[in-house]
Amino acid sequence: MHDILKVLKFGMPYLSRYWFRFSLGVFLGILFGLSNATIISATTLIFNRLNASEQVHYPIAPRMSKLGARALKPPTTTDELTWSVQQYTDPAMDAINAWSEVWLPIAGRPITWLQIIGGIMLLPAITLLRGGLGYASSYFMAWTSRMVMIDLKNDVFHKLNSLSFDYHDKSTTGDHILRVNGDTGALYGCLSLGLSDLIKEPITLLTVFCTLWYIDWKLTIISTIFLPACVLPTILMGRKVRRIAKEGIRGGVMQADVLVQNFANFRIVKAFGLEARQEKLLDETVRFESRQGLRAIRQKEMLNPIIETFSSMGVGIVLVYVIWSGQTTGNLIGFLTGLGIFYGPLKKLAAIHMVFQQCSAGIDRLMEISRLKPTVVDAPDAKPLREFRDKIEFRDVSFGYSPETAAQMLEAGGALHGDPTIMVHKNLNFTIPKGSKVGIAGETGAGKTTLLNQLFRFYDVIGGSIELDGVDIRKYKLADLRSKMAIVTQDIQLFDTSIASNIAAGRPDCTHEEIVEAAKKASAHEFIMAQPNGYDTMIGERGSRLSGGQKQRVSIARAFIRDAPILVLDEATASLDSATEAEVQAAIDKLSENRTVVMVAHRLSTLRRCDKIIVIERGVIVEEGSFDELLSKGGFFAASAAKQGITAASVAMEKAESNGNGTVLEPQGATA
Ligand SMILES: Nc1ncnc2c1ncn2[C@@H]1O[C@H](COP(=O)(O)OP(=O)(O)O)[C@@H](O)[C@H]1O
Ligand SMILES: [Mg+2]
Repeated sequence: MHDILKVLKFGMPYLSRYWFRFSLGVFLGILFGLSNATIISATTLIFNRLNASEQVHYPIAPRMSKLGARALKPPTTTDELTWSVQQYTDPAMDAINAWSEVWLPIAGRPITWLQIIGGIMLLPAITLLRGGLGYASSYFMAWTSRMVMIDLKNDVFHKLNSLSFDYHDKSTTGDHILRVNGDTGALYGCLSLGLSDLIKEPITLLTVFCTLWYIDWKLTIISTIFLPACVLPTILMGRKVRRIAKEGIRGGVMQADVLVQNFANFRIVKAFGLEARQEKLLDETVRFESRQGLRAIRQKEMLNPIIETFSSMGVGIVLVYVIWSGQTTGNLIGFLTGLGIFYGPLKKLAAIHMVFQQCSAGIDRLMEISRLKPTVVDAPDAKPLREFRDKIEFRDVSFGYSPETAAQMLEAGGALHGDPTIMVHKNLNFTIPKGSKVGIAGETGAGKTTLLNQLFRFYDVIGGSIELDGVDIRKYKLADLRSKMAIVTQDIQLFDTSIASNIAAGRPDCTHEEIVEAAKKASAHEFIMAQPNGYDTMIGERGSRLSGGQKQRVSIARAFIRDAPILVLDEATASLDSATEAEVQAAIDKLSENRTVVMVAHRLSTLRRCDKIIVIERGVIVEEGSFDELLSKGGFFAASAAKQGITAASVAMEKAESNGNGTVLEPQGATA
């Protein structure tokens, strides 16, 4: 019961959006439930008319008048109850009797045409009505459930998108897929299968119970005496099913993860011959999930035989009682029909209980993420950022990937470099003036990408602040802040759509002409035109059908079309071979024109055009200056540069060469 309420409470805000059809479904469901009583009554009515020697009129329960009965014996509570019900039912019964005289044949009397038609049509007509009501009610419920599922899927996807990296760092793609598809599907199952039954069946149960009670209350008590015995196993098994369902979902997540990982790293799977290992992994997860499925089925299927056994015990008792008390055949058949209908909904209700228990494991997961809040959000009084005017300033910026630990460490004043999981940056101070190109150098793992992550507010700083035009970036609207920036990364992320749509991702409202122009600027136009479908060529998952250099040029075109004042480059050419690198670098240089550029590079030659280079070592700035200054200083930077074959002397030599060329081309240079 608790779980049913939980599921309903979760689903109610969604259901209420479709209140009209939902209520219609509920209403028709109630009518359906009530229509079951008609079937029992009609059966009793017909069978009683077969035997003229027996009591002909419906109902079969002895009709008592209050006065008459009182004269014989003092009334019991049950008698009182029966009387008060009869007050309302008697007029109806009289009408039914009058009607049946005309429309239903009776044994031992001549039969009319109307009675032939009535006799043939009564049960089919009632059944059709009942079936129609059940159908319409189920359809409206299913429709509502579908709509709820659509909304829910969208909401879950939106929620996952809205959550920040701290959540996404901890969860897996398989888990996301299962939340959007599996867990929402669980609610759908609950609502579409369970909800209509949850309304129809209890009403059916109640109506049938009342009708049986009306026919013979003693018999009703006797035949339903085993009812409570069905409840306990239902509850116990329900709990078990729920635990199993949780495990089943875990299995589903593992399975999705194996698949996602496999195809995301397909080249490696092939190259390292990991197919067998991956297939074994999948086999294990599939088997695990199936085992849970079977365990759940064992519980669910055990329930039916238990309920059926108790119901047949009820039937046995009815038979004995009827013979002993000398009831009419009509009564007996009506009663047995009623019992048949009675235990049907009971079985269904038990099954619904199981369905809800099973769904509730999925609902738990949905509730879990609906409670999560993104950590990086707009401040309540967030300001719009219309234009980037002056500078970006890092002021005493400290950061760690586990915010609590990092904050504690910062308070304690400890310098914790060497354990980046605790603290990655400590007290970074530097300025990026508008229009300048600032390079960030440092060994891998020094915290360069982390720095860029903070600029985009993928993570918020823990100590200090990043200011843009003198205002903390946390005070701007997040969307505005990010709209001022474009990023090109080493790990190129493209969508499996056309080239054009990948470029257009930079600014969704752009025209095809703008896309082509951006591609031309990114030196991508030629290779795109050489593709089978030009700009409409599908590039495969993560751009698998393009070479590294081509992918990078598409991503540069995407940054071009964004036309953002701040360009962020994170090792954009690091994974390219030197020939391609030169081409891509030329495109990047073009993209960098008239923009503020923050450029992270491990390969230091890339940083040569920077106005200023900041060298980070274990989370602190160890050097700062121009390329030449840093080289001649002979510190960290010079040492790393030397390892890459760059020395002050080699640079001076190259410069002299290019200056030599320059004097030929530029007469001004010669006169200077
Ligand atoms: N999402 C993350 N969660 C926890 N630690 C991270 C995360 N990303 C990076 N780190 C750690 O932070 C440190 C700096 O990483 P990063 O900024 O990527 O270095 P790089 O200078 O090579 O770009 C590394 O030690 C890395 O292990
Ligand atoms: Mg990096």
